[in-house]
Amino acid sequence: METLRTVGELHRFSEAVRGRGGRLALVPTMGCLHAGHLALVAEARRRADAVVVSIFVNPTQFGPGEDFESYPRTLEVDLGKCRAAGVDAVFAPPVEELYPPGASTTVEVAGLSEGLCGRSRPTHFRGVATVVAKLLCAARPDVACFGEKDYQQLAVVRRLTRDLCLPTEIVGVATVREPDGVALSSRNLRLRPDARREARVLVRALEAAEALVAAGERRREAVLAAVRVELAKAPSAEVDYAELVDAASLEPAPELLRVPTLLALAVRFPSREGPGAPPVRLIDNRVLRPECAAEEPS
Ligand code: PAF
Repeated sequence: METLRTVGELHRFSEAVRGRGGRLALVPTMGCLHAGHLALVAEARRRADAVVVSIFVNPTQFGPGEDFESYPRTLEVDLGKCRAAGVDAVFAPPVEELYPPGASTTVEVAGLSEGLCGRSRPTHFRGVATVVAKLLCAARPDVACFGEKDYQQLAVVRRLTRDLCLPTEIVGVATVREPDGVALSSRNLRLRPDARREARVLVRALEAAEALVAAGERRREAVLAAVRVELAKAPSAEVDYAELVDAASLEPAPELLRVPTLLALAVRFPSREGPGAPPVRLIDNRVLRPECAAEEPS
């Protein structure tokens, strides 16, 4: 496995794969790799001849007071995991390599970036879109894999790829969960132990909503009320948002749900680092399918 530090090295790696007639897959990450990332790598390996994983804690997607400083950095362990997973190259550049002095170009995906996480993190998706565009331009992969846990991010990445005429196929990979249903996230490591137990309320809220819709409930407010009941079972949780939006446009869902609808949750929990530390913000989601479910109860 090669470790690449510069954009030039990444270009040369990509050209060499293509020169052999091979297909290249990119798995962008911020490191602290867990089974969710390894599922992305496995999918990438199924779809290409060579896989490059980028490991870069992207400063521009963190807002003031967020957890950029405390975000876990575990490069040596991550390299071992990538090697064991059959990754061909890891791209782990220093910040100046992707943001050279004077860098002034950003990518903004209007509309899709504004609701949900974009409301409480107004600069987040500009940072994500900018770094993903850089990675796609630098690696020129045939395919790139992203987790469906970050549903809005996946939508933003698909849109920017289409709008910028980038030739990469964007593939979404299903969320990997702990045995108790909590979605895997590098941030889970920062949860206070009681908050880690309480984090189960996210998946329970998703399941409650899914069960209601499957039983024929179509009223947006009734579904959201059931979600709030579940979330309220976690005393340490502070809900950032619990929203129903159109699964394609991310526009607010109508009063009566008819088409695939995303239930998106973001909840803050206390960190194990103590009250002065930034809280741990977890997200999760599920696409509800009222169009496939039972008829509405009469
Ligand atoms: O999902 C992530 O880990 C990051 O947002 C990404 C896509 C690697 C961009 O920094």
